Amino acid sequence: MLTACCLLALCCSPGAISLLLRSRRVDGGNDRPILGTDLSEDKCSVKFCHVVQADELTHWNPAIVLPELHNRLYGWHNCITYKKALQYSVLVGIVGILAQETDFESFQKFGSSYIAASYVKFIESAGARVVPIRLNRSDEEYNKIFYSINGILYPGGGVDLKTSEFSRVAKIFYRKALEANERGDYFPVWGTCLGHQLLSYLTCGENLLTWTNTDNFAFPLNFTKDAKGTKMFADFPDDLLQEMASDPVTSNFHFWSLSVQNFTNNEKLRSFYKVLTTNVHGNIEFISTMEAYAYPVYGVQWHPEKNPFEWNNRTGIPHSRSAMRVTYYIADFLVNEAQKSNHQFSSKKEEAEALIYNFNPVFTGRFSSFDQAYFFD
Ligand SMILES: *[C@@H]1O[C@H](CO)[C@@H](O)[C@H](O)[C@H]1NC(C)=O
Ligand SMILES: *[C@@H]1O[C@H](CO)[C@@H](O)[C@H](O)[C@H]1NC(C)=O
Ligand SMILES: *[C@@H]1O[C@H](CO)[C@@H](O)[C@H](O)[C@H]1NC(C)=O
Ligand SMILES: *[C@@H]1O[C@H](CO)[C@@H](O)[C@H](O)[C@H]1NC(C)=O
Repeated sequence: MLTACCLLALCCSPGAISLLLRSRRVDGGNDRPILGTDLSEDKCSVKFCHVVQADELTHWNPAIVLPELHNRLYGWHNCITYKKALQYSVLVGIVGILAQETDFESFQKFGSSYIAASYVKFIESAGARVVPIRLNRSDEEYNKIFYSINGILYPGGGVDLKTSEFSRVAKIFYRKALEANERGDYFPVWGTCLGHQLLSYLTCGENLLTWTNTDNFAFPLNFTKDAKGTKMFADFPDDLLQEMASDPVTSNFHFWSLSVQNFTNNEKLRSFYKVLTTNVHGNIEFISTMEAYAYPVYGVQWHPEKNPFEWNNRTGIPHSRSAMRVTYYIADFLVNEAQKSNHQFSSKKEEAEALIYNFNPVFTGRFSSFDQAYFFD
């Protein structure tokens, strides 16, 4: 792989593996080549570590997928295992994004369902590709898609949590995801805003939301004591976590929220999700970030995809440098989760036919809160 800033060469011959990883420092220092040679007889578990700390092994992946971004964000963490390099240079991350009924009148002439393009850019920015999950398809088709993609994102929006087609399809994938994960078949599920609320409904079977009128607000996050050591924030640098706790870096566009009170009173929710952050608005403290204890299921009430990709004139979308970094780290986390899944399309042809590239986004920024959107059917 050769890019403007990074050269990664893996050479393998019997008894000798060498790896050359050369990248540019964030701080403007000189390029520094790193050379590793075979250290053990089991060449598939040889570790080439520039920074020799076990926990940094988790950083190998963006170094391959997106060296420029990785280096910008992490600086020198060029640590990779030969096995993973081989495995993941072949695997691709493809994230499904669930389409939603076009409930806005201004959208209806373009199609009966849509995906805001910011979600697509968000996934693409961290090195995965996107497949739209369209509505009104057969169970058989959804089953096939499930085993072809590496994770699913439920976006925000405005449809009914219980009765919409969006909810019906989300439930199909949610159930399959839980079953798959129980079998050791890794499959992450991510919910943003309405998607986050939908996760709470899918988990407990009840709509426990309460009116908070939290529309068009940028908030910092109140981290819970459980937030340290969680999967989602594990790779976030301390300075960024501090900014997230003090600066308004999360975009809130929701009228309803899941209160801490209702969450805590519900045994199904409480035992399934760990609460990572909360926010207070009016007199309600609501769940703003959660992750499941035993499954790769994640929910954010806020919109990481908006910060760099939505520029409508609303004060609730922060565009500060910290806000952009939050988005990049979340996208990196989600894509890294997706790359743990082994699902794949049965052929390149099928893959090509399913990708979002088959559709063109429409510039909707003049009449909607989304700058661009994809429309279907
Ligand atoms: C789904 O099918 C129903 C029933 O045919 C139809 O009314 C609805 O418009 C369809 N929705 C989408 C998003 O295609
Ligand atoms: C709890 O959920 C119910 C719906 O079951 C809702 O009416 C109520 O407002 C919620 N209360 C709080 C404090 O969130
Ligand atoms: C964090 O919690 C405190 C105490 O409950 C509350 O006053 C404050 O508004 C919260 N901050 C945010 C950003 O929600
Ligand atoms: C954007 O918001 C500012 C401040 O509220 C306002 O002065 C300006 O007219 C708005 N611009 C557009 C294009 O709506």
